[in-house]
Amino acid sequence: AISPATKIKNKTSVKIYADCKDASLYVAQRIADLITKKGSKGEKTILGLATGSSPKQVYQELVRLHKNEGLSFKNVITFNLDEYYPMQPIEEQSYVSFMNKNLFDHIDILPQNIHIPDGSIALENIAAYCRQYEQNIANCGGLDFQLLGIGRTGHIGFNEPGALLKSITRLVTLNDLTREDASADFGGKEKVPVQAITMGIKTITQAREIVLLAWSSRKAGIVKQALEGNITADVPATYLQHLPNVEYVLDTEAASLL
Ligand code: GLP
Repeated sequence: AISPATKIKNKTSVKIYADCKDASLYVAQRIADLITKKGSKGEKTILGLATGSSPKQVYQELVRLHKNEGLSFKNVITFNLDEYYPMQPIEEQSYVSFMNKNLFDHIDILPQNIHIPDGSIALENIAAYCRQYEQNIANCGGLDFQLLGIGRTGHIGFNEPGALLKSITRLVTLNDLTREDASADFGGKEKVPVQAITMGIKTITQAREIVLLAWSSRKAGIVKQALEGNITADVPATYLQHLPNVEYVLDTEAASLL
């Protein structure tokens, strides 16, 4: 394996790879090792998963490890961070479609072990639905591992500026820049949903291990703020600075301002 450059920022360890492909192989192997280790003890692995372009190559490598190296997901339970609202699961832009296409269609995970917030739930039922989503995570014993990207607003999941440290799964309003960044997927910013269901900051920070991915110079500014700025609701990713169990995995461009 390629060895990355490393830095420590506050409590957060940072691994910097020349190539996001090598970085993704490292993260996928770390997830695979966790699944294997827990599996050897007869335990299930509870994974928190993310969407967006950043984790795609991690999923690609997990699929390869499944097909070529016998990695099984039969004892894996997943909880995705977020989903647009409103959003029918069968729509092309849904995170359900994204996860199926990039990971779930190609591995042996049991359908009942997959959890993704349901963007088709009626508005009056959302609060109860979100409480149940939290409860489902708790009933599994909490998240062993949470994979994160970072939005240019500093969001993790869809926890936009203003999100509180104590926030849990809920309906939120998307930031303008976030909708702009998603406009290509929807064929225009006006077609991007205005709301989303997302795990909260508390939900995410309770995970036993957290890995945040960021690639390219587009993310360099927000990565610097997230790691070096004051802890503030204005940049929700800064909440991760509190924690001992967070690792940033970056490419050289995303790390260029550190
Ligand atoms: C999306 C997702 C986030 C993701 C972020 C970054 O809005 N809800 O979970 O981390 O945007 O996306 P990308 O990886 O494509 O830059």
